[in-house]
Amino acid sequence: MSTGTESTVAAEGLRGVVAAQSAIGDVNGEQGILIYQGYNIHDLAEHSTFEEVVYLLWHGRLPTSQELAELNAEVRANYEVPADVIAMMKQFPKTADPMDVLRTAVSSLDFYDQFGHNTDREHAVKTAVKLTAQIGTIAAAWDRIRNGKEVVAPDHSLNIAENFLYMLRGERADADESHMFDVCLILHADHELNASTFTTRVVAGTLADMYGAVTAGIAALAGPLHGGANTNVMKMLIEIGGLDKVDAWVDKALEEHRKIMGIGHAVYKTEDPRATWLRKYSQHMAEKKGETKWYEMSRRIEQLMHEKKGMFPNVDFYSASTYYLMDIPLDIYTPIFAVSRISGWTGHILEQYGHNKLIRPRAEYIGARDLKYVAIGER
Ligand code: COA
Repeated sequence: MSTGTESTVAAEGLRGVVAAQSAIGDVNGEQGILIYQGYNIHDLAEHSTFEEVVYLLWHGRLPTSQELAELNAEVRANYEVPADVIAMMKQFPKTADPMDVLRTAVSSLDFYDQFGHNTDREHAVKTAVKLTAQIGTIAAAWDRIRNGKEVVAPDHSLNIAENFLYMLRGERADADESHMFDVCLILHADHELNASTFTTRVVAGTLADMYGAVTAGIAALAGPLHGGANTNVMKMLIEIGGLDKVDAWVDKALEEHRKIMGIGHAVYKTEDPRATWLRKYSQHMAEKKGETKWYEMSRRIEQLMHEKKGMFPNVDFYSASTYYLMDIPLDIYTPIFAVSRISGWTGHILEQYGHNKLIRPRAEYIGARDLKYVAIGER
């Protein structure tokens, strides 16, 4: 900052800075409370559905039966992604990271939406429907393509959670897993100004199109300090190998100042309320599949991290072992986060478009000044 009014420099990583007003969701980090549009996450996880939460995040209230039926019909009618996009994905290297594929394919959806650059609410909601409907189709299709399998066409009789599992596996999930997965989507739907959501708002704040804003959000989510943590939690559990090795492994990691993935949070100073549900699901899947090792290891890591560092698990910690026992490939966990978070991203983008102000902070300049230019031959 070199001119203008005096300003204070924000904390590193903008911790504690309130960068926008939003009616979409709130995180109380001290008490471990998460709300979407006034509703406690526990209440929504207990009683709602992902589609209802999508409506809530976009419209600020729960839908009537008719409004929900309309949203369901619109979403299901938009499950198919353009054939060109699937054809393009078939050209990608089979080793491509699913989040990179998601980012590229979602970006290309813009070519096929003639109103995709319209930022007025009516058109933007239509684009939000398309994105919400198609992001799962892309994520599931990539897993099929890279494994040399036929892409499974979406089933319009299924909701988003059921349809995603069906397209990924080629067979319908049972009612228990479908419900659990639906709740997982509810839990990941929104989280105030997390890194990816803030990213989408910054892009939308330039009045760029929703596809561009979501593409940037996917890029941010992919990072291991954000949504990428869930995949890394499972890699860590596999690397540790067994309950008897957890203590030594954690001690060594802490000695070497390595972070334990899925632990800690920039806002929560107590239990992340989403982890409460995911712990329950991890245990449920462990008992259902008769494979309790991952859950037990996770519990021990949680206990050690609480004792040694006063830290708690975040949303990514128990989702890892839950998804693992649902036979979901490790690197699809973060795309699943996107399949859910698309609802929060698009909700925030709609809110940003609705009261837009370009987001343009300042930097405190800490570099040199008044240097004299030296000709290249004299350096
Ligand atoms: N394991 C071990 N130590 C951790 C830790 C973890 N998961 N998370 C934070 N710490 C420690 C840091 O090493 C640091 O210690 P120091 O002060 O001795 O250097 C201190 O806690 C503060 O860490 P910092 O990364 O600056 O805090 P933050 O507020 O930015 O942390 C996260 C938020 C999420 C980035 C951080 O907890 C983390 O990296 N967790 C692992 C990744 C993860 O699960 N991300 C998903 C988030 S939903």
